[in-house]
Amino acid sequence: MKTLVVRSIAIAALAAVILWTNAADAQNGKTPSVKEAMAKLNKGPGSLCPQVGKAIKAEAPNWDEIQKESKQVLVFADALVKNDPPRGDKASWDKLTKAYFASAKELDDAAQKKDKNGAAAAHAKLASSAGCNGCHKAHRN
Ligand code: HEC
Repeated sequence: MKTLVVRSIAIAALAAVILWTNAADAQNGKTPSVKEAMAKLNKGPGSLCPQVGKAIKAEAPNWDEIQKESKQVLVFADALVKNDPPRGDKASWDKLTKAYFASAKELDDAAQKKDKNGAAAAHAKLASSAGCNGCHKAHRN
């Protein structure tokens, strides 16, 4: 029973990876640069992360909208993983971008389930200024 569960999780994860890859490739057929991805995700109050954070906090969250945005967040988080860092050590970049991606995935999963608390918790990880600063210090020019 346990192996079966583990196996289905592995298969689901693989399917999800393929899906994300396709989503990223759908962006003009190429992976956005780190600068493009970061601008879409985090530049200014109109960018994806602040927007989705605001939408989650609404009294009656608009899940259709949130789900669209969380998918976009995943696409750009995936682009970070796929790029090389503009500066700094590749192993550190892999670790930080994969952690960022994992939080984006958590956000998207919670959004699909319309789980407000889960989405808020995942968003808090994505929006953590310690996360921003840590990565910028190591990898931003
Ligand atoms: C995993 C690493 C990583 C994380 C986490 C991260 N950033 Fe960045 N960010 C970068 C890198 C690298 C650049 C420089 C991109 C370049 O200019 O090539 C950047 C650039 C930016 C820019 C400038 C974009 C532009 O148009 O030039 C903004 C704004 C920004 N980050 C905001 C944030 C905020 C806010 C957070 C946290 C909520 C955050 N970032 C989290 C890696 C990260």
